[in-house]
Amino acid sequence: MAANQLDKKSEAWSALFSEPMSELVKRYTASVSFDQRLWRADIEGSLAHAQMLAAQGIIGGDDLAAIRAGMAQIAEEIEAGRFEWKLDLEDVHLNIEARLTQLVGDAGKRLHTGRSRNDQVATDVRLWLRAEIDTLAPLLRQMQMALVEVADGNVDTILPGFTHMQVAQPVSFAHHLLAYVEMFARDEERLADVRRRVNRLPLGAAALAGTSYPLDRENVAQALGFEGVCQNSLDAVSDRDFAIEFSAFASITMMHVSRLAEEIVLWMSQNFGFIDLADRYCTGSSIMPQKRNPDVAELARGKSGRVLGHLMGLLTLMKGQPLTYNKDNQEDKEPLFDTVDTLRDTLRIMAEMVGGITVKKEAMERAALKGYATATDLADYLVKRGLPFRDAHEVVAHAVKLAIQQGVDLSALPLATLQGFHAAIGEDVFEVLSLRGSLNARNVLGGTAPEQVRLQLARHRARLG
Ligand code: ARG
Repeated sequence: MAANQLDKKSEAWSALFSEPMSELVKRYTASVSFDQRLWRADIEGSLAHAQMLAAQGIIGGDDLAAIRAGMAQIAEEIEAGRFEWKLDLEDVHLNIEARLTQLVGDAGKRLHTGRSRNDQVATDVRLWLRAEIDTLAPLLRQMQMALVEVADGNVDTILPGFTHMQVAQPVSFAHHLLAYVEMFARDEERLADVRRRVNRLPLGAAALAGTSYPLDRENVAQALGFEGVCQNSLDAVSDRDFAIEFSAFASITMMHVSRLAEEIVLWMSQNFGFIDLADRYCTGSSIMPQKRNPDVAELARGKSGRVLGHLMGLLTLMKGQPLTYNKDNQEDKEPLFDTVDTLRDTLRIMAEMVGGITVKKEAMERAALKGYATATDLADYLVKRGLPFRDAHEVVAHAVKLAIQQGVDLSALPLATLQGFHAAIGEDVFEVLSLRGSLNARNVLGGTAPEQVRLQLARHRARLG
């Protein structure tokens, strides 16, 4: 074994070890196959640590220069796909450190002064996640913008609003889409909030107890753009609540996506026929030539399952772990990576797909005419003429019953028939029974009246810039 080079993982430990690891144990304990994805954050963290060590006089200026040159070369090698990742060196941290030492000798061996892989990995994951958060936030806004654009052309488009999947009251289709904008806006807020807690520096906690070297942790935090320093070394190396919180944000967002995806699937089915999707988001069937399936929406709905599953996985991983760092935590990476990848692709594809929706306005409106969607309006009409609401409700139930028997809409019953249910009903009832009359009447803040929906649209546009 070369005394000054780390070629094998066992050599990273110490002379204490007298037998090699079996191949199975090596493979089982290694993370380099997936955590190499953290390489950029790992180098960035090391450089910040090294410049602080030099500023504190813990390593020499020449060491710092050598470390910088070595890391620059390593970054080049990795980017070019020339870096040789070794399973024997377990993880991204030991691989990079070993290569650095190979390139620059003793300076490389000084880099790990006052540091442990425990605070190193916690720092890397935070740096990596912060960068990912900053690419996800604009995608969430794009999703909202795509919905706002479709809403803009559909303020006066009437959709049957459902409760219990039964026709309830007519609503503006724009109002319906803006409900999702509200959901994604809250997701955006949640993400910004998560970012604040991700953005704290663990380095300086070392293995668990802090370090005896005079480190300047604030300096490192500033160099890396962290908002603050983790204030307890034990907590810094062991907790992954920041990742769990991110995963909770992602799960809620995917849950919202899956609701929208489900509606898109329903709306596109022949039984609804409310929208059509562009061909590029549909696939055919190998047996049924007439089929165009909304696979993208179905997959977005389905992929929410894995993101929710990862949240459960991460919570279970952390639950019951004694302080401080335990190797269990190495298992945080794959779920976290997959969560980010799934969410990113899903937001991108859903925003694109929503942008390409064709709205079949007449079909929506025809559907709203079925199911006596304006029955509540007739009750409200009677209340305005002095009836207690419960009595009005009962009167309208009788009217609806007759209309169902005759197979017609309430508005198709003659005035005399309607007056048979209550004498207070006059000619002006027909405006009230119309879909547009119903919509216009709901002119309360947050209601579906086109006037209100236009106000909301303007608010969202101003917010989304
Ligand atoms: N690969 C490890 C992880 O992902 C790095 C930290 C290992 N620390 C240790 N003392 N074994 O968590």
